[in-house]
Amino acid sequence: MHCEHELAPGLYWIGGDDHRTPLFEGHHPVPHGMAYNNYLLLDEKTVLFDTIDRAVEERFLETVEHLLDERPLDYIVINHMEPDHSATLGAVAARHPEAALVCTATAKQMVKQFFGPDLAERVHVVGDGDTLDTGARTLTFLKAPMVHWPEVMVTYDADDRILFSADAFGSFGALDGRLFDSDYDFDAELLDENRRYYANIVGKYGTQVTDLLDKLDGHDVDLICPLHGPLVRDNITRLIGLYRTWAAYRPEDAGVVIAYASIYGGTRDVAEKLAFKLSDRGVNDLALFDVSVTDPSYILSEAFRVGTVVLASVTYNAGVFPKMQEFIEAMVAHNLRHRRFAIIQNGSWGPIAGRLMTKAVEAIPDSTIVGDMLTIKSRMTDAQEPDLDALADAIAAAVRDEDGERADAAGETAGEDAAAARVTAGAAGVAGTAAAPGADPAGTASAPSVNRSSTTATPADDRTGTASSPADGRTSTAAAPSANRASTATTPLTPPPARDLPPIPGTANTKVMQVWRCTFCGYQAEVPKGTDMSTFVCPICFHSGEGRFVLVREKVVPA
Ligand code: FEO
Repeated sequence: MHCEHELAPGLYWIGGDDHRTPLFEGHHPVPHGMAYNNYLLLDEKTVLFDTIDRAVEERFLETVEHLLDERPLDYIVINHMEPDHSATLGAVAARHPEAALVCTATAKQMVKQFFGPDLAERVHVVGDGDTLDTGARTLTFLKAPMVHWPEVMVTYDADDRILFSADAFGSFGALDGRLFDSDYDFDAELLDENRRYYANIVGKYGTQVTDLLDKLDGHDVDLICPLHGPLVRDNITRLIGLYRTWAAYRPEDAGVVIAYASIYGGTRDVAEKLAFKLSDRGVNDLALFDVSVTDPSYILSEAFRVGTVVLASVTYNAGVFPKMQEFIEAMVAHNLRHRRFAIIQNGSWGPIAGRLMTKAVEAIPDSTIVGDMLTIKSRMTDAQEPDLDALADAIAAAVRDEDGERADAAGETAGEDAAAARVTAGAAGVAGTAAAPGADPAGTASAPSVNRSSTTATPADDRTGTASSPADGRTSTAAAPSANRASTATTPLTPPPARDLPPIPGTANTKVMQVWRCTFCGYQAEVPKGTDMSTFVCPICFHSGEGRFVLVREKVVPA
């Protein structure tokens, strides 16, 4: 059986849903299924954009043949080689030996690894800005390394103003017949799963996502065609603004996540009591999670959304409770910067989880500890009520500060808001692909819907307004313009100059360590000073060579 949907003359969506896979990538729960999108273009040349996951292989292959209707397949564009999009590449290539594969040099190496050298011989390697003339259209290829693998590129069709965005702008969840974002209530049905997908799949690579967004500046886009989730046509401005915010690790909202690990209820009770105290202090954008119940992918997603995270854990095997440890490691692995943390620990005889949690989150750049750590032994006592009040005061003050900072930043940059979330003219524009001014559906005007806390936000969109949102139930008493320019600022890439550091007082033997960043994938390697980085091979993207790594910082540590 074939199943397709025409997006533009001769351009078809030909994806499929999988409702049987409980875990995407064997890791992230997908209770609403998973959509795999790909596309077929029938121009003077025929072009298949990526292939598909094994789970939906049969219908995909039949649809390709139905639409081709005996025509040859000229090109298979590989935007992403991860097997959820390439598992059936071998099958398509075998049916169509005439097809040339179009991809980056890194993808070619992966074609060879997954399918062998013969298929790799059919690859036509393209670089950044290279184009392919298909007849009525010109396709432009833009490299997007580490969004989410190193070989990724996106493809821009300037004639239809369509962006084939690979994993970028994707979402968890099956389509179930609703192909476009306009078929959904974005806030009630899409935003949370869009954010969870971003945080868990692409969230580690904020710098590279920002690079892609900068590269897309100046490209007019009417339709984003991601490899997962609904196609985006009504929320382009908004989604790009959210991606700017997420990629800069700036919170969307001045809210609080309380994640607790409790075995017999003592830690849970303190976490819940803290939530009530925060609400009493006007902090109502609150999300409380039992880490033993909620998958870390959801908690991480909420931690991307808000600015303050409370970690409350029982001590377990002289360490942090394993489920809490998993959540903390997820935040560390995803570089969740610019967050405030408050710590509560429990231990009936040897509480140590708090110190370990503090050390772990302090290692995240730009993190701040709020208030004094609260230690309980088995159960909180009445005598500790003032300590919990003090912690609630400190957290509430931090949330108010964050609101104020965001309001100030919004005021300073209000005039730039229109450009912040828009695909506008930029330095990396591809020559000859600019469309007529004014035709950009992303819009030149600031979109109220980008701003969750704008006074013009719709009720369903208002997480930070005074009115409770039926869509998600999260409220706050203070409005905080969140889609501002400051919250989307990119991280400076220029590292501070190396300097001679003093020895650690009281430490007889020290050594100097250096942190170097891979300019290809962003991986940061900590090595002894003097290490020859020209021969160092990045363990993430496997690139090496002179200039591949740039120095980020130095530090003196005990030898
Ligand atoms: Fe949807 Fe990175 O694969």
